[in-house]
Amino acid sequence: MPESIEALLDRLCAVIPDYPEPGISFKDLTPVFADGEGLRRVVDALAAPFEGRFDAVAGMEARGFLLASAVAYATGTGLLTVRKGGKLPREVFRRDYELEYGSASLEIHQDALKPGARVLLVDDVLATGGTMDAAVQLVEQAGGAVAGVAVVLELDGLGGRAKLAGREINALQLA
Ligand code: PRP
Repeated sequence: MPESIEALLDRLCAVIPDYPEPGISFKDLTPVFADGEGLRRVVDALAAPFEGRFDAVAGMEARGFLLASAVAYATGTGLLTVRKGGKLPREVFRRDYELEYGSASLEIHQDALKPGARVLLVDDVLATGGTMDAAVQLVEQAGGAVAGVAVVLELDGLGGRAKLAGREINALQLA
């Protein structure tokens, strides 16, 4: 039987105890990305439930770019870069959101999407959902239709899924 995506992630993720602070067990995905089979299977699994239902893939700076770019290439769709505040050169839509400590902002170009474009949003991790919720709002403000949300890891108990209530979420592993 082929290895499940969960087993593959268990095998390839590096787990760092007490990082970034005591009591937190951090899952580092970089070994997954460094493994040819791991990267391919993760990218395919992110997109699979949404096959044929999106025209563009949005990735959140920075780690989301890695995966969104690969999903866009693999599915022959376009890539939309959702950037941290102050980096895009033309007119932007902006969302400010709260982090555990402090705040952050995300921006997209106002003309980033064709009207009605169906967008799959891709990131590595869903934690509080602040980042993904901001990106969802930006995509809709730019005239896109959110086809769904795909992440590799969903961190349990941080409220991300609740924040995205009503959205179709594909999380490859609950951690
Ligand atoms: C991380 C991660 C997600 C976000 C998840 O990005 O890549 O984008 O946090 O957290 P949330 O659900 O609580 O918003 P980070 O802001 O650390 O930026 P990076 O990708 O540049 O490391």
